[in-house]
Amino acid sequence: MLFAAGSGVIGGAAAVAATATALAADRERSTIARVERDALLARSTFVGTGMEPAAGKHQSGVVTAPQAHSVFAAFDLREGVDAAAVGRLMRLLTDDITRVTSGRAALADTAAELAATPARLTVTVGFGPGLFARTGLTEQQPAGLVELPAFPKIDQLQDRWSGGDLLLHICADDAMVVAHTQRMLLKDTRAFAVPRWFQRGFRRAVGSGIPGSGDRNLMGQIDGTVNPATDTEFDAVVWDTGPGWFAGGTTMVLRRIRMDLDRWDELDRSAMEQVMGRHLDTGAPLSGSAEHEEPDLAALDFTGLKAIPDFAHLRLARGDGPARQILRRPYNYDDSPDADGASDVGQLFCSYQADIGRQFVPMQQRLAESDLLNKWTTPVGSAVFAILPGFEAGQWLGQGLLG
Ligand code: HEM
Repeated sequence: MLFAAGSGVIGGAAAVAATATALAADRERSTIARVERDALLARSTFVGTGMEPAAGKHQSGVVTAPQAHSVFAAFDLREGVDAAAVGRLMRLLTDDITRVTSGRAALADTAAELAATPARLTVTVGFGPGLFARTGLTEQQPAGLVELPAFPKIDQLQDRWSGGDLLLHICADDAMVVAHTQRMLLKDTRAFAVPRWFQRGFRRAVGSGIPGSGDRNLMGQIDGTVNPATDTEFDAVVWDTGPGWFAGGTTMVLRRIRMDLDRWDELDRSAMEQVMGRHLDTGAPLSGSAEHEEPDLAALDFTGLKAIPDFAHLRLARGDGPARQILRRPYNYDDSPDADGASDVGQLFCSYQADIGRQFVPMQQRLAESDLLNKWTTPVGSAVFAILPGFEAGQWLGQGLLG
């Protein structure tokens, strides 16, 4: 239906005017959207000045909301390094950790500018069982720190990712900060210890995850839903509550777990969800619809089978105990493929618990026995550490043991 010329012109002019108005409104809207977006970006991406206090009852880097970048650096003590020498190393480290986490240069820093923006830097220090043995302190080794038993059904452990006398776990929201801090702290350790392995990990960059939704791992699953969250839960699950020098400390289990993502990709989404017992999109248990909903382990699906399968990761990890039994604070890794092109991708599974033997081992035994996820994951590294209690201003890390 075409109009008479006149009305068409008028109509055309009106349409042009309307279009111009709409365009202007669009421009305005898009300008507003851009301004809002830029403001959001400015807020969410400027993370350089963020600081996490180093001093306190507990070391930082455990409760701390996980930063985007991390290195787990393990060392072995040099021959002849005794308890007094470890004490000297701890004084040096405490001083430098206090400096670098507050935006000040380490003592021997030749590039002090790099220290000015700590980006929520934390450095968490741990002692492996070997340190207690080599310094004659076996009697003082915390009861919660035990070597893991072998898990022959799943383990393919390599020495180059396992063990270690001393751990420095460095985390920040900026990879430059992690690298620079590592360089500075290596200077402190050089006379006392030799590097054993370094494992680098990452999580979502700041501002890139969807607000309010949990962090995802490289399999795409929301990972970290069931974790202690309140002080009461941390006291019950994570911290050694004393008495003794270790009060306020905890233990770390670090497992380097390779993921076979090529074979995982052969599953359809429903099979992936059955393996975990949770929905991929929302992270909700298969018995429900919201991430933080309590799983109903008895619920049946429409076919009359258990909604959360018997060998699902969720069911076996939980066992019969309370929901929150360890704190999981994992990082992803993605290293160079091997000579045959097989990818080297996975999770630096890192858990904190007051007592490895009581909390971690039974859980890992259940999972090692029959977790469906084992078909696509292989532990290739393993280490345990006593994470020292925190220190107050004027004190140093490990003073209660070595002072
Ligand atoms: C690459 C290896 C692993 C992956 C990809 C993985 C992934 C997941 C995911 C996606 C969840 C569900 C969401 C959540 O609660 O965070 C979960 C839960 C859990 N995982 Fe793992 N996990 C791995 C290894 C382990 C290991 C080695 C352990 C301990 C020995 C473990 C212990 C747990 C626990 C305790 C839960 C919470 C279960 C509950 O009470 O609901 N996971 N894991």
